[in-house]
Amino acid sequence: MQNLPALLLLCVAVCSAYPVDRAAEDKDSNMDLLQQYLENYYDLAKDVTQFVRRRHSGPVVKKVREMQKFLGLEVTGKLDPDTLAMIRKPRCGVPDVGQFTTFPGLPKWRKTHLTYRIVNYTLDLPREAVDSAFEKALKAWEEVTPLTFSKIYEGEADIMIFFAVRDHGDFIPFDGPGNVLGHAYAPGPGINGDAHFDDDEQWTKDTSGTNLFLVAAHELGHSLGLYHSADPTALMYPVYNPRTDLTRFHLAQDDVNGIQSLYGPPPMSSPDGPAAPTESVPPEPGTPATCDPALSFDAISSLRGEILFFKDRHFWRKSLRTPEPGFYLISSFWPSLPSGLDAAYEETSKDIVFTFKGNQFWAIRGTEVQAGYPKGIHTLGFPPSVRKIDAALFDKEKEKTYFFVEDKYWRFDEKIQSMEPDFPKKIADDFPGVDSKVDAAFEAFGFYYFFSGSSQLEFDPNAKKVTHVLKTNSWLNC
Ligand SMILES: *[C@@H]1O[C@H](CO)[C@@H](O)[C@H](O)[C@H]1NC(C)=O
Ligand SMILES: [Zn+2]
Repeated sequence: MQNLPALLLLCVAVCSAYPVDRAAEDKDSNMDLLQQYLENYYDLAKDVTQFVRRRHSGPVVKKVREMQKFLGLEVTGKLDPDTLAMIRKPRCGVPDVGQFTTFPGLPKWRKTHLTYRIVNYTLDLPREAVDSAFEKALKAWEEVTPLTFSKIYEGEADIMIFFAVRDHGDFIPFDGPGNVLGHAYAPGPGINGDAHFDDDEQWTKDTSGTNLFLVAAHELGHSLGLYHSADPTALMYPVYNPRTDLTRFHLAQDDVNGIQSLYGPPPMSSPDGPAAPTESVPPEPGTPATCDPALSFDAISSLRGEILFFKDRHFWRKSLRTPEPGFYLISSFWPSLPSGLDAAYEETSKDIVFTFKGNQFWAIRGTEVQAGYPKGIHTLGFPPSVRKIDAALFDKEKEKTYFFVEDKYWRFDEKIQSMEPDFPKKIADDFPGVDSKVDAAFEAFGFYYFFSGSSQLEFDPNAKKVTHVLKTNSWLNC
C-alpha cells in the first residue's frame, strides 16, 4: 500500500464528506489490487502507478493486456469481471514476466544430481505428509529428465525448502492467507534454487485447503529453472489450479517440453544393458486405456530388446523382463518426434529405430534423434504416388524391411540400402490371411505380427500362413 497515490487519499478525504459511495470504494480497492498485481507479476514500474488513475493510461492498459493475454483471458485492457476474478485467485509469488533478469543466461543446474533439504515444517500436516508431498513433486520432474534428487538433513542443499510467514529474510515477504502461496528461486548457489512456502495458507493433502503437492511441484519447477507458462493446463501456469483427481496427476506437455529444453529426456536403456525403467505416467482421461478392447496402434517397433507400441502422443514400452508395460509420452523421450506416427521399425544391426509419419522419417538411437532427419520417404525408393507408410517390419534374419502401404508392400534390402526390384506386390498374395489394412507390424521370435484395428494376426513367414488370431493389446497383459 505504500504506493497509494496521493490523489486517491485526497479523493477519499473529499468523498467522505458525501454519502458513502460503496461502488466507488470497491472500484478503488480493485484498482489497487490490479496495480499491485501488475507491479508484482508484470514488471509495472512502481513510479508509473503514481500517474495511472486516469482511465486509459497507456502503460497500465498495455500491462493489463499483457496480463490478460498471458493468463488466457479475453484481452480487453480493462479490469473486467473475469480479470478481477483472476487476480483474486491464489497464485505463485514469482513474476510472470521479467523474472530471473538478475541471473543472465539460461538458469539451469550444471549437474544432474541435486540435493534438497526440508529446513522446517508446517504444522498443518504431519511431517510424513510434507515429506511425501515434496518427494512426489520432485519425482514428477525426475520422471521426464535425467535429474535425480536426494534428501539431506543438515547443511546447505541445492534446494532449501522452508515454510514461513510474512518477512522471512529474502526481501519478498509473504502476504498472509490467500494470494501468494509460495515462491522459489532459479538455479544457482545460495538462495538460488530455494523454495519458500507461505505458512499462512492452510496446507492439505487433498484440495480442501491448499494442496501442498501441487504448489510444491510448481515451485520446484522454478527451482529447476522454469519460468511461468501461459498454458492454463500446465503445472507452471502461475495461478493455483486445484485439480480434482490428484492420483492421476502428471505434467502437461508444456511442462515436459520446458524442462526437457533445459535437461533433455530421461536416459533410455543403453546398448550394453537396459537401464532401470523410469516410472510411467498413469493414463489421464482422453488418453488411450491399455485394456480398451477397441484399442488399435499407430506403429510398433522393438528397441534394444523391448517393444514399443505407439498410439497418438503416447507409447507403451514392454520389456520381456518386467511384467507390466510402462506408458509414456513420446515427447518425454524424443521431444522432436511428432505424435501420431504411421510406422516404425528397428534396424537392430545398426541400433537405429526408424519412425515414419506422412512423407517423412526419422532415425533414433536410444533417446537421440539422429542429425540430418527427418528425410523424405522417397529417398528410400518409393514412387511419388506413395504419400505415407501404413506399417513397417524388419526381418532380422533376412536383413530386409517390409513396408506396407494400403494393399501392397515393398521390400527394402538393408545390406545394400536399396528397394528391391519387382515391388510393390499384393499383400494378400504373399501373406495369405492378412486381408485388411495393416496399422502396425513387427517381428518377434521368427513370427510376423500384423495389427489391424483391434485384432492381431500372428503369421509364420516360413509356413506362409496365419498361426494365431489375437487381440491387439495381448502384449500389454490384457
Ligand atoms: C523456517 O525457517 C525460515 C528460515 O530460517 C524462517 O524464516 C521461518 O520462520 C521458519 N519457519 C518455521 C515455521 O519455523
Ligand atoms: Zn510460479
